[in-house]
Amino acid sequence: MCQKCGANYPQWQGQCHHCKAWNTLVEEILEQPAKQAWTTEEGKSKAAAKPIPIQEIVTHNEHRIACSDPELNRVLGGGLVPGGVLLLGGDPGIGKSTLLLQISLQMTQKVLYVSGEESQRQIKLRADRIAAQNDNCYVLSEIQTQAIFQQIKLVDPDLVIIDSIQTLQTKYIDSAPGSVSQIKSCTAELIQFAKKTHTPVLLVGHITKEGSIAGPKVLEHMVDVVLHFEGDRNHVFRILRAQKNRFGSTAEIGIYEMLSNGLRAVNNPSELLITQHNPPLSGHAIAGTLEGIRPLHLEVQALVSSAVYGTPQRSTTGFNAKRLNMLLAVLEKRAGFQLGAKDVFLNITGGISSEDTALDLAVVAAILSSHHDIALPQNTCFAAEIGLSGELRPVPKIDQRIQAAEKLGFDAIITARLPKKNLPKSNIQIITLGKIEAVVQHLFG
Ligand code: TYD
Ligand code: MG
Repeated sequence: MCQKCGANYPQWQGQCHHCKAWNTLVEEILEQPAKQAWTTEEGKSKAAAKPIPIQEIVTHNEHRIACSDPELNRVLGGGLVPGGVLLLGGDPGIGKSTLLLQISLQMTQKVLYVSGEESQRQIKLRADRIAAQNDNCYVLSEIQTQAIFQQIKLVDPDLVIIDSIQTLQTKYIDSAPGSVSQIKSCTAELIQFAKKTHTPVLLVGHITKEGSIAGPKVLEHMVDVVLHFEGDRNHVFRILRAQKNRFGSTAEIGIYEMLSNGLRAVNNPSELLITQHNPPLSGHAIAGTLEGIRPLHLEVQALVSSAVYGTPQRSTTGFNAKRLNMLLAVLEKRAGFQLGAKDVFLNITGGISSEDTALDLAVVAAILSSHHDIALPQNTCFAAEIGLSGELRPVPKIDQRIQAAEKLGFDAIITARLPKKNLPKSNIQIITLGKIEAVVQHLFG
């Protein structure tokens, strides 16, 4: 069986014909599947579910189990849904176990934390670091699903956490933990348990080298919510993002900071990401971006220096390198800067990477500022996309960006021309410019 796509083969081969991945075939021994014929046997149809008109289905106002973690509640759209199964993926060491243990230590309901990776003592050590006390948190070190269900029956928890799905093993299948068939059937068992008892289940999922959740793609289809915990391991910030959410939107993100005593929810990340330098430094610009639907002000730093080698270097951290090349080409053509003979380094501080096109103007401003070695006006931020002919283009949700800038204490925001009615009322100065030439004129006279 291919460990990537789940395709079956009668014998080993180097490449999977279906997904073209190399060396992913592993022998797995499956249980004999029951005959699944397309029948309409009399006896069966009686017990089978019947279709009913959608108007007649009674819904109870789905109550949610709010966690004490505001960021997780925000990402989930209000809290855990009873019977919902959540999958949390992320790089090793990013803090998945820490996040879930922290949540279980803060819950007022009874929680069973099952770990297949750590012993009970290791978990206790971690809990001591987080320094939260909770009598309702039970810890179990076990990998066999049947044994886990037995303990669940005894403890009767309101929330089950499994760290991680790749370490689980069901006794009905012979292959090793982490193989496609094991992951599939263990997840299926846990989903069945969740739906039957209306207990939410949180699963940790490992991710592969390519960054997708290890195991079959069908795993992501089976669960109700898929969250990704990401961030630069060397930086303090961690971002929790929903990739799939059957009970809410996927636009919200949660931001955490990894401290020595666990993860701390960050309410106003912009404040930590932006540093005001006094006197102001050249090459720094602040961009008003959106992360999901949440305004986030980022600091862009640029360094422009003479190229030592024939081919100038362009290096970016947190920003798309191709987009930087495009912006440099636009600058060269529209603003007459000979940046072809310059090395350009670009960095978004805080280890954050962003794809928001509203960064364009801040990137250009930072590059120009570094090029001229003139600092940009303090307390001014930027939010506009730049088109190929050097025109400033409006970005979505400008009102939210302006509001956020006002909250953070900026005096002015530079953005693209907008119809008057689209501009929100604001106490800060909104400077609308049409072209890159006008930006240069405005900033450097
Ligand atoms: P962990 O939760 O074990 O990651 P995962 O389960 O995703 O593999 O993350 C552990 C990392 O977090 C580890 O490198 C140490 C760090 N850490 C802290 O900085 N502070 C803490 O309080 C804890 C518990 C961990
Ligand atoms: Mg872990």
